[in-house]
Amino acid sequence: MSWALIVHGGAKEIAPGEEDANREGVSAAIEAGRAVLASGGSAIDACEAAVRVLEARPVFNAGRGSDPTEIGEIEMCSAIMDGATLAVGGVMAIQGVCHPVSVARMLLGEQEILLAGEGARRFAQEKGAELCGRDELLTEKTEKQLAEADHDTVGAVALDAAGNLAAATSTGGLNGQKQGRIGDSPMPGCGYYAENGAGAVALSGHGEEIARMMLAGRIMHRMSEHGPERAVLSSVREMVRVGGEAGGIAIDAAGRIGWAHISPHFAVAAIREGQDKPDIWLKKDEQ
Ligand code: GLY
Repeated sequence: MSWALIVHGGAKEIAPGEEDANREGVSAAIEAGRAVLASGGSAIDACEAAVRVLEARPVFNAGRGSDPTEIGEIEMCSAIMDGATLAVGGVMAIQGVCHPVSVARMLLGEQEILLAGEGARRFAQEKGAELCGRDELLTEKTEKQLAEADHDTVGAVALDAAGNLAAATSTGGLNGQKQGRIGDSPMPGCGYYAENGAGAVALSGHGEEIARMMLAGRIMHRMSEHGPERAVLSSVREMVRVGGEAGGIAIDAAGRIGWAHISPHFAVAAIREGQDKPDIWLKKDEQ
C-alpha cells in the first residue's frame, strides 16, 4: 500500500499579506506528517504530528492563535480518529493546553470518546500534556484581524503503508463565540471520520451548519461510489441548504486524495509516496 497525506489550514478568507504564512504553515505540517509516514509510521501519528505544527502557528485558528470567546477566554476543540479500530478521542472547550490534538490522542485508549471543559483539562494535566496559559495561546493578532477572523479549523487526513486511515481536527472555534460553545470539530460524523476500507475526512467551516448536515458522514457515504474529490465537492455544495461555508479534505481506501471548499480560500498541502515535493494551494483555482 502507498501512503498518502493531506492537511489544511482552514476554510476562510486569507487576508492580503498572510498568503506566505499560510503556505509556510501547511508546508511545515505536511513535512512533519510525511516524515512519519516515510519512515513507516502510522496514519494516526502522522495526523497528530501535522496538526501539532498547525496548532503552533498563530496564523491558524487552533492552539496558539486561537480566537477568543465573548469574554476573552481561549476555548479549543480537537479530535482524532483511528480508522483501524474506530477509536475516537475528542476534547471540547478545553482551556490551558498547548496542543489539544495531543490531548485528544491521549483519549484514544480510554472508554470515553469526548471530554469537555474543566474535565478535559484535568485529564490533560493527569496525562502530562503540555500546558499553556491563556496569554501564550492568545497571540498578537491585531484588532482588525480579529474582527475579520472567521471559522477556520485545521485538519489532517492520512493513509499509512499498512492501509490504516486516520483523521484529525483542531480549532479555536468562532471568534467571539459564547463561552462553552462547541462546533463540528470534536464530533465524529460531523467534522471528521475515518474507517479503514472506506476513507477518512476532515472538515472546516461553520460548525453548526456542518453538524446539521452531518457533513463528514455524508462524505463517507459517497466516497466509495464517487471517489473523495466528488464526494467532498458535492457534499460541501449542499451546505447551501442551511447556509454557511465549508471546506474538506479526504483520502479513500485506495489512497486517492480529494479536497474542495466553498469558502474564498482553503490552504491545503498534499503528498503521496513517491512524490518529491508536496503540492500546496491556497484555493482550488490554483490547482
Ligand atoms: N469548524 C469549527 C467550529 O465551528 O467550531
